[in-house]
Amino acid sequence: MAHATMNFPSDFLWGTATSAYQVEGNNTNSDWWPWEAAEGSILEDQRSGRACDWWENAEADLDLAAGLGTNAHRLSLEWSRIEPEPSVFNEAALDRYRQILQAMHDRGIEPMVTLHHFSNPLWLVEKGDFSSDVVVDYFKRYASRVATALGDLVPKWITINEPMVYIFLRYLSADFPPPQRRGTSAARQALPNLLRCHAAAYHAIKEVSPAAMVGVAKNMAVFEPRREGHLLDRWWSTEVSWAFNDWWMLAMQDGRLRWPIRRGRIKHLANTFDFVGINYYTRYYMRFLHGLEREWPAGAVISDGDYGELYPAGLFRVIKHVMRYQKPILITENGLPDKADKLRSAFLLTHLREVWRAVNFNWPVMGYYHWTLTDNFEWDRGWTQRFGLYSLDPETQERRLRRSGQLYQEICQTGSLSSTMAEQFAPSVMRQLFPG
Ligand code: BGC
Repeated sequence: MAHATMNFPSDFLWGTATSAYQVEGNNTNSDWWPWEAAEGSILEDQRSGRACDWWENAEADLDLAAGLGTNAHRLSLEWSRIEPEPSVFNEAALDRYRQILQAMHDRGIEPMVTLHHFSNPLWLVEKGDFSSDVVVDYFKRYASRVATALGDLVPKWITINEPMVYIFLRYLSADFPPPQRRGTSAARQALPNLLRCHAAAYHAIKEVSPAAMVGVAKNMAVFEPRREGHLLDRWWSTEVSWAFNDWWMLAMQDGRLRWPIRRGRIKHLANTFDFVGINYYTRYYMRFLHGLEREWPAGAVISDGDYGELYPAGLFRVIKHVMRYQKPILITENGLPDKADKLRSAFLLTHLREVWRAVNFNWPVMGYYHWTLTDNFEWDRGWTQRFGLYSLDPETQERRLRRSGQLYQEICQTGSLSSTMAEQFAPSVMRQLFPG
């Protein structure tokens, strides 16, 4: 077997990613909080509760992140904490975020901050949030306020996390806490408003911090025809891929809305991203005119909870795909639920090998943020899905480094993948990664 090392550039960003609601705890003014507790909730008795206790003690996990050898972390701000009532800004909350960001810098960890990651202030929901035009001015003011308060500590911003996924889960599939109106017509209003919010936030941040890099974290998936060689399945998977992967990106690029949402132009939207943030998890198989099905072909390796097929080559494919936008690329999320930690080491090595391939073509992939540092509150799936490099017991708050976490530590500390790591942590992928 060949012994070899795949080296990454010395300035590569090795990170982890989290979101506020999933880790902070006690976000009582967010739309998720009453939804979790509602009678008949699909979460039954599970609650986010203290989550990973970040509001009280993010520093403890930042120590762990630094101990892993990471030099970057993506986190989000909880709007409902910063603006608990319309036009009432909580300075103490902004101070706490400053503390957390400063704690990152003190540990050599570069922050990337997301403004909106799946959760809303309750008062905004009452006003119709994204399906109402009022959201845009509120979002702009929120963005400008936090950019002013925190901008000197934040070199990279994400306005909206996974806009297409959010619209789907909230307005169409009803997996997320309800907006005032659900359904396709509400979704068709919400999507352009999300774009308006993005554009407003982009400019608000740039006004305060012209040198900051601002973008979105865009979930990118691979779509294949369910029946190989079936022309209609093939056509449909291409259409779905365009709508899911490209519709939003093209709008941010040229400011235009396209079919099937509606045609038109949004002012000040063109060219409002400085990098492409890719959240990559899996691939889907599309049957003509059918929606997403969680059904995988025989032999596919699937992560916990039927979350998805492990398809590392897809990461290379989506990186290659977004090269057309001619911007720097960051892998803003990539990970899997794997409580028993049977797959994560192989996952890390095989996915990062695809990133390395891209880097070797001189494609501008600047960093990788693994989802996630410790197990956290996985939205509508509560605590059932464990994505952490560290396992976490939410009751005792005890953390334990998983074996795959040790591997990520070696990768981050050395800035490389090696055959020795594969032999030690995931011998099953040795031949695939290091043939010869
Ligand atoms: C979201 C995260 C989530 C992760 C795993 C991403 O789509 O941004 O908040 O926890 O996937 O499901």
